[in-house]
Amino acid sequence: MNTQKLVDTARILVAGNKGLLAMDESNPTCNKRFARLGIPQTEEARRAYRELIVTTPNLGEYISGTILYDETIRQQKKDGTPFVKVIADAGIVPGIKVDMGAKDMAGHPGEKITEGLDGLRDRLAEYSTMGARFAKWRAVIALGDGLPSRGCIEANAHALARYAALCQEAALVPIVEPEVLMEGEHTLEQCRAVTEVVLRTVFNQLYTQRVMLEGLILKPNMVLPGLTSPRQNTVDEVADATVRCLLRVVPASVPGVAFLSGGQAAELASARLNAMNLRFKSRLPWPLAFSFARAIQQPALEIWQGHDINVKAAQRALLHRAKCNTAARCGRYDAAIEKDR
Ligand code: G3H
Repeated sequence: MNTQKLVDTARILVAGNKGLLAMDESNPTCNKRFARLGIPQTEEARRAYRELIVTTPNLGEYISGTILYDETIRQQKKDGTPFVKVIADAGIVPGIKVDMGAKDMAGHPGEKITEGLDGLRDRLAEYSTMGARFAKWRAVIALGDGLPSRGCIEANAHALARYAALCQEAALVPIVEPEVLMEGEHTLEQCRAVTEVVLRTVFNQLYTQRVMLEGLILKPNMVLPGLTSPRQNTVDEVADATVRCLLRVVPASVPGVAFLSGGQAAELASARLNAMNLRFKSRLPWPLAFSFARAIQQPALEIWQGHDINVKAAQRALLHRAKCNTAARCGRYDAAIEKDR
């Protein structure tokens, strides 16, 4: 195993105040987001949108790495320049989503198991030759009546750990993403308790599968009340619960934590990340960064709407969110930054 390469890449991904930009929506997910805005759901529209993202001027000032999807890593700009080259030239590390999606879990109604371990070693080798230096695998855990089950948590944690071991063998840094979903009426405390069990199980499995913790990035959910919970907690309550949960279960040797946004409004995700860093940064063993998709991209997508004429304004919106989240990494995000476009 190329230990030093893994450690170096992981450190680069969370260095300074930068974070990750996830643009790894599968084709069905990307199409769903396009459909809502009346954008054609074609390969060319997806390519044009990803070109908009990767050619955003100065993106590398705020973004350390970007996660691509299988279709995207093979695509080029209109002038033929491969996206991977455009990204690397901007000083951004290219990464790749390698799971094959969350599928219904047999015997576990309402729960999902992420698939994609079969053939993964060969796929990782190919992505590595294409320029990827890190990878991502997302597991989803639903909360609800009697959920999550022990079986779902353990199966997903096991798959995450086997994926991570294969990535490290291929000298790719694994982003380990166990996402406790926001959908539901659950309380903040219920989310905290489930997130704690999930992370504990994931780290046990990582240990069992001999994954080197210094060579991975954890991508967890923030601890949040359910979307339809009658009590929506304050930003500080979310920050406290999230940090308290992570401190209990995430070993200090992990080089960084980069949150997913999970469907939070973009400004709220920035505010919550900011509160965590403002209140706890000096007391934490790992940096708290971001690896957002929707919370960086959504405003830009809504401006673009599939039209060339909107590209520049959409890029400004994308860069703005990247900048806001960079400020949130050091507790300097506020209303003034939000207005400064
Ligand atoms: O797997 C999901 C992405 O990596 C993060 O997306 O920030 O929209 O939750 P999100």
